Amino acid sequence: MPQIFQRGANLVPLKILLVLGALATGAVGAVWYYFTPEYTKVGYQPSQPIPFSHKVHAGQLNIDCRFCHSFADSGAHSNLPSTQLCMGCHTQVQKDSPKLEPLRQGWASGKGVPWVQIHKTPDHAYFNHSVHINRGVSCVECHGRVDQMDVVYQAKSLTMNFCLECHRAPENALRPLDKVTDLGWKAPTQADELASLLGTTPDKLKLKAGDQLTPGKAQKVMGEHFKVQRGVLPPDSNCAGCHR
Ligand code: HEC
Ligand code: HEC
Ligand code: HEC
Ligand code: HEC
Ligand code: HEC
Repeated sequence: MPQIFQRGANLVPLKILLVLGALATGAVGAVWYYFTPEYTKVGYQPSQPIPFSHKVHAGQLNIDCRFCHSFADSGAHSNLPSTQLCMGCHTQVQKDSPKLEPLRQGWASGKGVPWVQIHKTPDHAYFNHSVHINRGVSCVECHGRVDQMDVVYQAKSLTMNFCLECHRAPENALRPLDKVTDLGWKAPTQADELASLLGTTPDKLKLKAGDQLTPGKAQKVMGEHFKVQRGVLPPDSNCAGCHR
């Protein structure tokens, strides 16, 4: 891995090698030290050049996340929408609003809007949106209720511990593929309804017809079903799964 040593100021890859070395020699304590998040950015909420509201657009107007973040389910990275996409509506709706002045300028100049990036994983960790979305992990698991935010903030830590917690028990997060962008959606708690959603019968899910489940139990039953059906096996103890 020669490229690891090129980034002079970034010692993290070196740390990973050290921890791997520590693992090999059985010094587990060192690993736990590194597993503990040193910092979290939860709550980071920079002010944006335009007061764009997800609560209005994704919530009230109910525009699907993927209409604007169109690469979330097809590419490694998600993306922000072009000014063209906003102007599709805003040449008609609120077309003279002063709040939209930076949008009109960015459109006219072709330079776009200088949005401030909020979420960022460090270069030494590999993350891919589409694998998660296509296995039925909802945006809400990693970004919270964006559809209720006037101004987006970082809702989850996105630290290594956070990633691993889900990778060790993905059944707590898997849902139907057509519900990944429906952030408020929950598994039905009525056994028959749950079974019919999954195209099966209550007894095949080890439930009794008429059973009323807790929301946690309903999610677990549904998640276990999808885990087997989709052959889900996220990397956890395999460091190279995320540090490539
Ligand atoms: C009408 C277009 C539009 C829709 C619909 C939309 N977004 Fe966004 N999204 C944006 C824009 C513009 C930004 C950048 C400005 C901001 O942060 O508010 C953004 C930013 C974000 C960010 C922060 C990106 C970063 O910098 O880290 C997340 C996360 C996000 N959106 C998630 C969602 C989710 C989840 C949904 C669906 C519930 C959604 N968005 C629906 C336009 C949209
Ligand atoms: C599908 C149509 C649609 C798209 C696409 C869209 N908007 Fe909107 N937007 C609206 C509507 C409708 C309103 C008015 C909501 C209201 O008044 O309650 C609005 C309101 C706004 C406002 C508030 C304006 C004011 O003066 O109160 C801002 C700012 C805004 N949008 C920015 C954006 C940006 C930036 C994008 C692109 C990322 C975008 N919109 C994409 C339909 C859209
Ligand atoms: C398993 C966790 C996870 C899920 C699920 C998830 N995201 Fe993200 N998202 C992240 C991480 C981590 C980043 C930072 C990415 C980076 O630095 O490469 C991010 C960044 C973003 C960004 C900023 C642009 C980028 O790629 O850096 C947008 C926009 C975004 N996510 C939207 C969404 C939308 C919309 C969904 C649902 C369709 C979604 N995300 C689902 C973890 C997730
Ligand atoms: C809420 C659950 C959840 C969270 C949180 C989560 N993941 Fe995943 N991850 C999954 C699932 C499900 C898969 C799919 C496994 C499969 O297809 O077998 C996956 C797969 C992966 C893969 C393998 C994809 C491939 O291309 O081989 C990587 C790498 C990964 N996740 C990295 C991350 C990172 C980094 C984070 C934290 C920023 C994270 N994940 C957070 C559920 C999650
Ligand atoms: C599910 C994905 C995933 C797996 C598997 C994983 N890591 Fe990480 N790791 C991450 C992410 C994401 C970060 C960055 C977290 C942050 O910025 O807080 C990270 C950060 C680190 C760091 C840097 C901590 C620091 O000081 O900033 C070290 C060292 C590390 N991991 C070692 C390991 C080792 C050793 C293993 C195997 C036992 C491993 N990782 C497995 C996702 C993963």
